[in-house]
Amino acid sequence: MKLKFLLFFLSLFFLCAAFSACSRKPAEPDGFILGFSQIGAESAWRNCNTRSVQEAAAETGIQLLFFNAEQKQENQIKAIRSFIAYQVDVIAFVPIVSEGWENVLEEAKEANIPVLICDREINIDDKSLYSGYLGTNMFQQGQRSAEYLIKKFFDSQGNINFAGLAQETESNIPRSGANDPVKIVELSGTEGSSPAILRAQGFRDVLSEYPEFEIIYSESGDFLRSKGYELMCNILEKFSGIDVIYSHNDGMTLGAIDAMKERGIRPGEDIIIISIDGEQAAIDAMIRGEINCVVECNPKQGPDIMRLSKLLAAGEKIPPVIYMYEEVFTEWDDLSGIAPRGY
Ligand code: AHR
Repeated sequence: MKLKFLLFFLSLFFLCAAFSACSRKPAEPDGFILGFSQIGAESAWRNCNTRSVQEAAAETGIQLLFFNAEQKQENQIKAIRSFIAYQVDVIAFVPIVSEGWENVLEEAKEANIPVLICDREINIDDKSLYSGYLGTNMFQQGQRSAEYLIKKFFDSQGNINFAGLAQETESNIPRSGANDPVKIVELSGTEGSSPAILRAQGFRDVLSEYPEFEIIYSESGDFLRSKGYELMCNILEKFSGIDVIYSHNDGMTLGAIDAMKERGIRPGEDIIIISIDGEQAAIDAMIRGEINCVVECNPKQGPDIMRLSKLLAAGEKIPPVIYMYEEVFTEWDDLSGIAPRGY
């Protein structure tokens, strides 16, 4: 790990020395340098996001300085500082958490380097410290997850209805009674990250109108499949009568499903499962009846990142917020026609 850093900074040092005699601005419109700081490789979704950025850079002939932060904000800050030292033309990064970016963004602004925030949002007072955000609408993903639940549990007369849940469970999970609230457990993403914050807020925003639903427990599984498994094992020890799992990503969902199956619980039947991302493995699980709803989060952001970076490198303005197109897939859809997801 340390050796990787040393090599990265040494190579930057030599590259800086080699470039010091050159002017910073590229002669060719496509020939500019983009410094990109990625969070890491915590999920299949993230790996697809990385591939999308790298492939789009290669296709457009943009020189990409790619840096993987191994899940640490301090590594991202170091990478951004080295991009500034290297005098790249544009900086793009995926902020692992939403707070704590003021100082390094001020440094980028002083160096006159435009910054594009990708995938995850930041919380900052001075919006002039970055040029724009390209990513997904995570608040809406939370809302869409809750909207599915309402459709699932209300009948056409507007009455709460547990008919969607298996009444006789093989694992003898006590079922909620008709007057009990629907009991929801939330597997949340990385603490302090915008997907964890916004997916939780969007979900609650819709459910706050419905006292028929109760979030009985919420804990972070850090977007990792292994933690989703561990969390679910502990949750099943602690709670009985869980009706719904709302999981902030497919990785954690798949881990949780493993834990349920080990205990004879039928995911998708004994417990309703809503998952965010749209990985192939989650769609396959939905086809098997093990997930009830998948809310898409689109990782294929590379082409748009390149398009926006090109505009920024040319000194143009970009819109402050651009969201990717996304869909919702449910157990009621014909899933046979979904194109292979590629992640
Ligand atoms: O920021 C997007 C989230 O991060 C995705 O939902 C998750 O899978 C990823 O690791």
